[in-house]
Amino acid sequence: MKHLAILGSTGSIGQNALSVVETHPDEFVVAGLAAKTSIDRIEQQVRQFCPRLVAVRDEGAANQLKERLRDVKTVEILSGSEGTSAVATMAEVDLVLEAMGGGAGLLPTLEAIQSGKDLAFVNKEVLVMCGSLIMEAVKEYGVRLLPVDSEISAIFQCLSDVKGNDGSRAEIHRLILTGSGGPFRETPLGQLNSVTPQQALQHPNWKMGEKVTIDSATMMNKGFEVIESKWFFDVELSQIEVVIHPESIIHSMVEFVDGSVLAQLGVADMRLPIQYALTYPDRFPTSVPRLDLSQVGVLHMEPVDSEKFPCLQLAYSAAKVGGTLPTVLSSADEVVVQAFLNRQIGFTDIPNYLEEVMTRHDVTSQPMLDDILAADQWARSAAHQLIQTRR
Ligand SMILES: NC(=O)c1ccc[n+]([C@@H]2O[C@H](COP(=O)([O-])OP(=O)(O)OC[C@H]3O[C@@H](n4cnc5c(N)ncnc54)[C@H](OP(=O)(O)O)[C@@H]3O)[C@@H](O)[C@H]2O)c1
Repeated sequence: MKHLAILGSTGSIGQNALSVVETHPDEFVVAGLAAKTSIDRIEQQVRQFCPRLVAVRDEGAANQLKERLRDVKTVEILSGSEGTSAVATMAEVDLVLEAMGGGAGLLPTLEAIQSGKDLAFVNKEVLVMCGSLIMEAVKEYGVRLLPVDSEISAIFQCLSDVKGNDGSRAEIHRLILTGSGGPFRETPLGQLNSVTPQQALQHPNWKMGEKVTIDSATMMNKGFEVIESKWFFDVELSQIEVVIHPESIIHSMVEFVDGSVLAQLGVADMRLPIQYALTYPDRFPTSVPRLDLSQVGVLHMEPVDSEKFPCLQLAYSAAKVGGTLPTVLSSADEVVVQAFLNRQIGFTDIPNYLEEVMTRHDVTSQPMLDDILAADQWARSAAHQLIQTRR
């Protein structure tokens, strides 16, 4: 039985992961759970999955949870960042799923790697912020990074029988990431500034947390996946392309040097890539509806409209410069997306503000962890200031 720790268990990915565990109760033990404030949900998860350790980031919420779970003698409840770290590094855990999203997951991810845990990896922002440090740590501590993001999982699966998967990438010509185009694929550019957060949160194919859903609407999410793929598969940026595929059935493709292209297909349900990461290298049956291509009928592909979705190019530019610039992009994006959700800025302000923050940043090349953390703080404060000034 695999012992799991799930950081962000109350979120979209966390809940889907627990649904996978529910389907295969003989395969997994849930040893640890962590969340920020959602104690109704985590209380229910504790009662159902009986973890030994739970961390709630917010101290007040953690105290309330302790009160509610006084009858459950087998669980220890911690708070603060120490609590999250404790769950990320639990001795009995084999595999950590860090699904907190964004910069909050950076240190717990590193701590999990440093304590020798394999990672079911979904927090692309962490690879965007410090891909080089994460990949070095993965090598140094000899742990496995198993992709959960559907596109990265697709490429991982396409490469699984290729000898290049063991290190040499010589047979890969390019990686082709697919993206649905989000809710505004067909919206004229001129109407984008008046779209509301409610409209932007209506993703046509995937049901996800708010931040990643807005990133999908701006296509920053695809930009982050470009950077995630670069680190994950150790390829050049110029080998990674994006194509719009509105049906989200082909999750991504690999083109090899001989021109042959492998694709991975499936229904748009995150339980599939989550389960594969949790059961890797085995495949288990699922309760997820199966793909019926005769019902899907037609699969469309189209190029990205980069005038309408400038965030994708911002991500390529940040990755090309490297150093602390991708950190700045990711951290500033957390702030501007929240400002859009709070209706402080418009949808088309998102790329403009991000570009402005990137332009103002003095890049540190080959950053150490302290440089990354400093760039993260700098970017958040620069984005906040910009929003205040412009308003
Ligand atoms: N959702 C998807 O289908 C999907 C697909 C591909 C990739 N991803 C990636 O997966 C990650 C998670 O996305 P999501 O959609 O699942 O996000 P989400 O629904 O917003 O969930 C975030 C989770 O993290 C917890 N959390 C947030 N900040 C925390 C902190 N400081 N300390 C402890 N816990 C914290 C939240 O707890 P509370 O509930 O208490 O706030 C919640 O459990 C992101 O990196 C995203 O890009 C998601």
